[in-house]
Amino acid sequence: MIDNWETLRESCLECRKCGLCETRHNVVFGVGNPQAKVLFVGEGPGENEDLQGEPFVGRGGQLLDKFLAAVDLDRKKNIYIANIVKCRPPKNRDPLPEEQEACIGWLRNQFALLRPKIIVCLGRVAGMKMIKPDLKITKEHGIFFEKGGVLMMPTLHPAALLRNSNQKPAAFEDFLKLREKIDELGLDIAKE
Ligand code: URA
Repeated sequence: MIDNWETLRESCLECRKCGLCETRHNVVFGVGNPQAKVLFVGEGPGENEDLQGEPFVGRGGQLLDKFLAAVDLDRKKNIYIANIVKCRPPKNRDPLPEEQEACIGWLRNQFALLRPKIIVCLGRVAGMKMIKPDLKITKEHGIFFEKGGVLMMPTLHPAALLRNSNQKPAAFEDFLKLREKIDELGLDIAKE
């Protein structure tokens, strides 16, 4: 366990724990406020993220930012966004179980330093890894699960919403529930 955020970031950027390091352009460590009380976790970088070194910067990311803004959340201010795997799986395939296992220690260390009160899992892969292996994302999105004193909510992946825009209203409801939960817990969420 590394107890300093910047040291953690620097050593993650040099990681060679799995084969994804051979094809990556950038390690995508995460973005946001390292004091955030709400952590978003995606699956892994896509092409744009790999090239820019930041999570959710493609079309899915723009949609995510819109949903966030509608509930007064902002990746530059009051949340943190990371992924299960920090390097892009070739051709955007799902990260393999062994790649997830090799990488998850970085996320665990990020979690230990952030100590978030709420984790939002973006999509099936993150939900299954973080919440439970038999998660049914289409049925169980928007539900808060408690694990070790942390609330975890799965929601639909932004890329899935781009493919299936009829699911957008249901996903947006999840963001409204998230906002309600933040207010209910009285979390001190910076707006500036
Ligand atoms: N999809 C993800 O799950 N994470 C990203 O960072 C980008 C796309």
